[in-house]
Amino acid sequence: MNLYNIKHPEEQVNFAQAVRQGLGKNQGLFFPEVLPQLENIDELLNLPLVERSQKILSALIGDEIASETLNAMVKNAFTFPAPLAKVSEDIFALELFHGPTLAFKDFGGRFMAQALAAVRGDGKITILTATSGDTGAAVAHAFYGLANINVVILYPKGKISPLQEKLFCTLGGNIRTIAIESDFDACQALVKQAFDDVELREAIGLNSANSINISRLLAQVCYYFEAVAQLPKEKRSEIVVSVPSGNFGNLTAGLIAKTLGLPIKRFIASTNANDTVPRYLKSGEWSPNATVATLSNAMDVSRPNNWPRVEELFKRNGWALGELGSDALSDAETEAALKAQHAQGYLCEPHGAIAYQVLKDQLQAGETGIFLCTAHPAKFKESVERILDIELPLPEALDKHNKMELLSDTMPADFMKLREYLLVE
Ligand SMILES: Cc1ncc(COP(=O)(O)O)c(C=O)c1O
Repeated sequence: MNLYNIKHPEEQVNFAQAVRQGLGKNQGLFFPEVLPQLENIDELLNLPLVERSQKILSALIGDEIASETLNAMVKNAFTFPAPLAKVSEDIFALELFHGPTLAFKDFGGRFMAQALAAVRGDGKITILTATSGDTGAAVAHAFYGLANINVVILYPKGKISPLQEKLFCTLGGNIRTIAIESDFDACQALVKQAFDDVELREAIGLNSANSINISRLLAQVCYYFEAVAQLPKEKRSEIVVSVPSGNFGNLTAGLIAKTLGLPIKRFIASTNANDTVPRYLKSGEWSPNATVATLSNAMDVSRPNNWPRVEELFKRNGWALGELGSDALSDAETEAALKAQHAQGYLCEPHGAIAYQVLKDQLQAGETGIFLCTAHPAKFKESVERILDIELPLPEALDKHNKMELLSDTMPADFMKLREYLLVE
């Protein structure tokens, strides 16, 4: 698989290099040079998740990784299902929260850990990643205990749910976590600065496990196929998918699935009040506001990292950006959406509720809608219980971590301090 840097197309790497490096020169994102058209999509859709995903990833990655190795990577990563639940006659929920950390990031995080272990070489490796909530847990759990890989995770202090924090800041061992006294964008900026620091990068073998790493995105492509595979055949011709979006990795993966030939009519980017993209799609002006804290905190991102990849896909496929649906919901609208879903008999959480409501508002007659449920409702226990006036039992994985001691360090958003910290070990 050949990839190029979107900012500097002359920088070209193979899959192994892209996985190891994460980001290209000048913080440019790597993008596959060729996205093959898959043949026999109907046959693919008849296969079980793991087998189908092995074929999709093999078509994407090519012969750079031996097929037995790739098959084992997929089998080790995708150890849990992604069921499609019927919410109403025309609307289905793709539940991506049945993995070990109860969020969609388990797909990408676990596949990336497998990919890195396969292509790592001999040097030291430090995974440095910023999280607005769920990436941290998925990455921490995917890499926990892997020999000679250190993981450092930055998150905005006080701006992720207490349960999210407990899930990944209690592991210890090769996982270190830092609460940054600022917002997610500042955490992301620190990660970017670290990658720009060549000396630091080489000294500690820096690697990012954010959705900027191509291996994570490729893994996420697979669950869009799994969604369509579970739809009754008569509902597969006019599919609309609504994606709760923050950093826009999930949407990028969906657009790649469509490029490969998955029959999806159109996508909707659903956001909270951090609405840079919906405003851009309406006005043509890219003008991020300051990030605001919302109920759907994992989407509190006003400068989405993956947006250049989304534009690249539209450009290369000759699609008009105007075909991308979008809308932004306020917290009050998110609460109303969660209540409406619950009244419909489906229990969700704020991120999925936004995707549901925007889909419901924009779905046309004859279309079938799928929205992505990116986290288990119990990961947002406090808000879900308050809004719906119910009690939510904690799933076992969360309950265990909830009782453990927090091990995080605290730090201002100061790159030199972070640099020192990273160089200590
Ligand atoms: C629960 C949840 N939903 C949605 C998103 C947004 O996904 P993306 O950043 O790929 O747009 C995130 C990202 O962290 C998340 O944790």
